[in-house]
Amino acid sequence: METSPRAAFLTKRFIAGMTLEDELQVCERLKSEGAFAALDHLGENVTKIEDAAAARDAYLEALASIETRKLPASISLKLTALGLDLSEAACVEHLRTLAKRAQEIGTRVEVDMEASSYAETTYRIVEKVAAEFPVMRLAIQVYLHRTPTDIERFNRLGISVRLVKGAYRELPDVAIQKKSEVDRAYSHLMKVLLKHGTYPALGTQDEKIVNEALAFVRAKRIPPDRFEFEMLLGIRSDLQKRVLREGFRLRVYVPYGAAWYPYFMRRLAERPANVFFLLRNLLR
Ligand code: FDA
Repeated sequence: METSPRAAFLTKRFIAGMTLEDELQVCERLKSEGAFAALDHLGENVTKIEDAAAARDAYLEALASIETRKLPASISLKLTALGLDLSEAACVEHLRTLAKRAQEIGTRVEVDMEASSYAETTYRIVEKVAAEFPVMRLAIQVYLHRTPTDIERFNRLGISVRLVKGAYRELPDVAIQKKSEVDRAYSHLMKVLLKHGTYPALGTQDEKIVNEALAFVRAKRIPPDRFEFEMLLGIRSDLQKRVLREGFRLRVYVPYGAAWYPYFMRRLAERPANVFFLLRNLLR
């Protein structure tokens, strides 16, 4: 599917395109609308060490373009794209290289959170690299039972957190299963982050939660430059515009590249209506 010429037609709602140039055009548009971007060069669970180096190089190229085009953009990556399954040492080295370059040009490296089996290793690696380059932001999934303790840990260390509900299928012993409970936990933890976190990002398109966050920061007089909302390309653009209109910061997560299949499937799985939308387009 990833090499099909019809891929762009299927994926264009959620993915900027196959090339960095496609990505940069979306970032330019976002910039003109007053939004920041997080560039995600798609890829995960690489099985060859050369592919991990290629992922690092793709991000270095993205950072160079961010610098020359003066884009208000960070990069966002998965440690398994940098070879975590193959060599932790190589993965850390690639991450250090990217963090150093990001720091030089005044931006950030955001680390996505993958399946729960990677959680502790990911936290440990981010902690290590952030001690040297304090430009890291780490995604933390609300649905994991361990998360309240981890939020405290990263608040204490002054490492920026992107709070997300969690997009992987996890078992009851590691994760909350009921959506209403995840939503409740999100409301609570976002307030902890807004009060005690270091420039946190609220990674959600849930309008109820966004409204609650806005009411909370207004009541507590938390200035809009102390945190960001972060939302995915192609999802709730109306809400994205509203957040900007109301004077708050928004970063849009913009994926690009050929390895789109797992990302795309997670977006479909989150919302069954997307599958019908896709089928309708295919039939048409
Ligand atoms: P919820 O699922 O309640 O959706 C709220 C509303 O948003 C829906 O009613 C619908 O209108 C809209 N919506 C949500 N998902 C949609 C979709 N796929 N298609 C169409 N509409 C949709 N997860 C993870 O495990 N690791 C990570 O690193 C990240 N990173 C990340 C970054 C950013 C910026 C965001 C916004 C999200 C992530 N996620 C993630 C994904 C996250 O865990 C979660 O699965 C999705 O954000 C959906 O949850 P919401 O908080 O949006 O709420």
